Amino acid sequence: MVLNSLSLFRALLFLSLATSAFSMRPYKEGLTPYFYDYVCPQALPAIKRVVEAAVQQERRMGASLLRLHFHDCLVNGCDGSILLDPTPTIDSEKLAFPNNNSARGFEVIDQIKAEVDRACGRPVVSCADILAITARDSVVALGGPSWKVQLGRRDSTTASRTTANSDIPAPNMDLPALVSNFERQGLKVKDLVALSGAHTIGFAQCFTFRNRIFNDSNIDQALAKNLQSYCPRTGNDANLASLDPTPARFDILYYNNLLTQKGLLHSDQALSTGESALELVKSYSYNYEAFWKDFAKSMIRMGNIKPLIGNQGQIRSNCRRVN
Ligand code: HEM
Repeated sequence: MVLNSLSLFRALLFLSLATSAFSMRPYKEGLTPYFYDYVCPQALPAIKRVVEAAVQQERRMGASLLRLHFHDCLVNGCDGSILLDPTPTIDSEKLAFPNNNSARGFEVIDQIKAEVDRACGRPVVSCADILAITARDSVVALGGPSWKVQLGRRDSTTASRTTANSDIPAPNMDLPALVSNFERQGLKVKDLVALSGAHTIGFAQCFTFRNRIFNDSNIDQALAKNLQSYCPRTGNDANLASLDPTPARFDILYYNNLLTQKGLLHSDQALSTGESALELVKSYSYNYEAFWKDFAKSMIRMGNIKPLIGNQGQIRSNCRRVN
């Protein structure tokens, strides 16, 4: 009798695992790190391989990929909308001011998508999830923290250049504007300060920090002079400067720099202008553990912005186009 109920239990357990493994019903309850565990356990390792190869080929790519997830999430939620190419019906976010001639890494996302669909045998992993996983793997590839990525997002069938222009923060913003921009997304000051730490990697073009190096007063004078030599008052708009002294390492120098007025963007240095933000900057400037822990937490919070789940949206076959 005992044996019989045990076998019945096993049979039921098998049946429930089998149905979740083979049914392609979208998950309705929200995001979970285990979303692809049964559907395609090869998905996450496949993504990691491509990201590692891309970052090895060009260290900056890790930064560019992390930024794509941020710019995706801030525009109507993390729904892969940033990846859609322009068509007569798609108002592509790629053409919005913060992305145009600036957002990069789209070819790597295409490569990941092709690789993942091949590994899974069919398109089961959304482009929005690919961006979230890619962001984490990029941070890890550059020596930063890891975290369990929440998964199960679906892809949008629309994009909005207008919303990208209005909702992605600009480098000339002061602290109150940055705080209210993040608050509109349900993110707090702590998220703002921790996530801005993403600027520990990557580069910015001259036109994004020109006003700061010529007109700001809260900038280290030697740094300003030095930058002015290859980012003059006019021209050389696309010249690059690293966002912190170690642009390929996910360290705490970004925060150290802010304490000595060496932030590259006006919006970076703005974090040292308010009491609660400055306290966080100070603590991250000497405490890797605090920065890494809060960064990981805030990435998960950002990744939870308005995902499409259940029957919403679709799983695109090509991240650049709606099906
Ligand atoms: C807080 C407000 C933010 C502003 C105003 C801002 C602005 C900018 C600007 C102007 C650039 C340079 C773009 C270019 O010159 O082409 C940049 C680069 C970058 N941003 Fe932000 N950003 C912000 C927050 C974030 C967040 C939250 C993340 C990620 C979690 C992020 C990740 C990056 C990365 C990694 C780069 C370097 C990209 C590369 O080298 O290709 N940023 N950001």
